[in-house]
Amino acid sequence: MDFLEEIFLTQQDIAETIKKLGGEITRDYQGKDLLLVSILKGSIIFLADLMKEIKLNNCEVEFMYVSSYVGTKNSGGKVNVLKDLNTDIKGYDVLIVEDILESGYTLNHVTNMLKSRNPKSLKICTFLDKPQARKVPIEADYVGKVIPDKFVIGYGMDYNEKYRNLPFVGVLDGKYK
Ligand code: IMP
Ligand code: MG
Repeated sequence: MDFLEEIFLTQQDIAETIKKLGGEITRDYQGKDLLLVSILKGSIIFLADLMKEIKLNNCEVEFMYVSSYVGTKNSGGKVNVLKDLNTDIKGYDVLIVEDILESGYTLNHVTNMLKSRNPKSLKICTFLDKPQARKVPIEADYVGKVIPDKFVIGYGMDYNEKYRNLPFVGVLDGKYK
């Protein structure tokens, strides 16, 4: 795999992380009306693995398609909502499921949008967090792994729409960018 500079999280690291997060969410959302809001496309693999570790019957899922990166690896701060939710979230305990929190522009935009629709509660679960890259003050309530400010690919995350299908998280070698 010469296109990788390093493997950051192996499939086993990921499985352990997801189990831990699923356990926390299962504990915290007992008796609540949990609605997972998955942010497409990056969070799809994370969502699929995470929801299997949430041992609750009252758990629903909806999707929002949000794009901030336009092709390349620098987020410009402009967030486009390409597909909004189909349902009314009023009265739900909404948990946003995101692949990675970087500048914070995306989740800042999404949380402001969803807050105005009066959910019972609104929290954020991100698989990865790059706190050193933050541009707006926003934190996630559930974080899988804190990582340094490096551009990662795989496990749903892309570079120019490629590499989402890698089952682990890696750092793309500079000569491929
Ligand atoms: P933010 O708006 O800068 O916080 O970035 C959020 C979005 O940018 C995430 O949902 C990802 O889709 C994408 N993103 C941020 N960092 C990375 C990365 O290292 N690899 C791949 N995508 C990333
Ligand atoms: Mg994303």
